[in-house]
Amino acid sequence: MSIATGEIYEVASFYHHFNLTEKNDSEKKICVRVCESITCSMFGADDLITDLTKQLPENAVIQHVPCVGRCDSAPVCVVGKRPVLNATPDKVCTLVNNNVTVPSLPNYIKLEDALSDGCYKTFKSCLSKQFTPSQVIQKITDAGLRGLGGAGFSAGKKWDIVRSFPAPRVVAINIDEGEPGTFKDRHYLEKAPHQFLEGMLIAAWAVNASTCFIYLRDEYAACHEMLSIELEKLRTEFPRQLPDIELRRGAGSYVCGEESAMLESIEGKRGMPRLRPPYIAEKGLFGKPTLEHNFETLYWIPEIIRKAKGGKEEIIELRGRKGLRSFSVSGRVCIPGVHRAPAGISIHELINDYCGGMLSGHKLKAYFPGGASGGILPAGIKDLPLDFDTLQAHGCFIGSAAIIVLSDHDAIPEYALNAMRFFKEESCGKCTPCRVGTDKAAELMSEEKWDLEKLTDLATVMAEASICGLGQAAPNPLLSTIKYFGDEL
Ligand SMILES: Cc1cc2nc3c(=O)[nH]c(=O)nc-3n(C[C@H](O)[C@H](O)[C@H](O)COP(=O)(O)O)c2cc1C
Ligand code: SF4
Repeated sequence: MSIATGEIYEVASFYHHFNLTEKNDSEKKICVRVCESITCSMFGADDLITDLTKQLPENAVIQHVPCVGRCDSAPVCVVGKRPVLNATPDKVCTLVNNNVTVPSLPNYIKLEDALSDGCYKTFKSCLSKQFTPSQVIQKITDAGLRGLGGAGFSAGKKWDIVRSFPAPRVVAINIDEGEPGTFKDRHYLEKAPHQFLEGMLIAAWAVNASTCFIYLRDEYAACHEMLSIELEKLRTEFPRQLPDIELRRGAGSYVCGEESAMLESIEGKRGMPRLRPPYIAEKGLFGKPTLEHNFETLYWIPEIIRKAKGGKEEIIELRGRKGLRSFSVSGRVCIPGVHRAPAGISIHELINDYCGGMLSGHKLKAYFPGGASGGILPAGIKDLPLDFDTLQAHGCFIGSAAIIVLSDHDAIPEYALNAMRFFKEESCGKCTPCRVGTDKAAELMSEEKWDLEKLTDLATVMAEASICGLGQAAPNPLLSTIKYFGDEL
């Protein structure tokens, strides 16, 4: 393939799910990946690792890994390709002893059932020219749909921008879902893959894209199998009417969720964010204008267009603060999971009305409002609306709405350190403020007494001089801890 050995090495050594082995190391081992992220560490990941180290048979290796996207079932590990929820040593050992590497398919709505439920009707209306692409884009804009991957950019505006650049164009869907605490995309994908695929096809039709790339994190192995099966059926159902659809597997790298790093990864390279301009809407995947979206943004497209047909009232229901948001809630609550709740809800309402309250014996102390990178808020700021644009004044952001609830049993600096270690591990190393800053900050935060002056200085450099959102947001939990939980330092 005319690829230099050096290029192969740099890619193989970049991704966590590739292993560099000796030439004659052909021994087959089952990999047990134990999640060490915030929620799993809260529910005993360290003890699990200690117990497994003593009990696992020789054909297993343990890897310490970041969030595997199942925080509502913490502690979690993945044996081979199979997730073990509420993991205990005996569950894990049984799977290893049975040589388990095959993921179990979720119980999802298959194409046949999706079609009889009316799925793909909106896409068919597009194909039969009942709408023009401009009309569809107008409906999406009117509905006020904002990107649900974190940045919250207007979806309709993005489609317009991509269409303004000459074809051929590409759609790239981000199912990397690596932000610790986030599991909403998997939640919907495991239930209704065709609702998402219809949204993707409508988007591709609206921007006249010839190819769609679906980038799915490697941790969601069962979803990969499911999508492969359903895409094959879809191609038979719509012969010659679909764009090319390529399903691509991630290889364990958080930064590959950053849009330009994801494109690099799809192109077969190390997932390092690109410098901008040019923006990917103009020059993206393989140099083509690219519409990049989070899974969930596209998931709601068919419903929005259907409701937009019903009249203004229903569109308004979907708009802005009155709309619903999918909160991935984990931590010290009775009912963790994905909760569809009004955008702008307060943490107290979310916990009490949707999550069954706090776990017995726990009192709400703080929460991560947007995964590891969104900072940490104290429970004491009353009635703070959880929405786009409302948390910045408090040094935080909602991002992908991953709410990790902490209680009076939790030491905040410990979780801030967990987040910083995660950023250090996941920094791609391209720019110095992030590569050196996350490493140095993690070291300083491991000290018994934090050097506040040095840490604040480091945080400023990281936030202001890093190339991408990883390095820019990495100081958020650190700064929140200094600002709100100084008495614990
Ligand atoms: C370090 C980093 C990781 C990210 N990870 C994801 C991710 O896993 N999934 C995602 O949809 N967006 C992720 N994003 C945001 C994307 O860069 C991009 O804004 C988003 O996918 C755009 O889609 P949307 O407009 O539908 O929200 C990440 C951003 C950064 C900086
Ligand atoms: S901020 Fe970090 S992750 Fe982003 S480009 Fe720089 S080194 Fe890489």
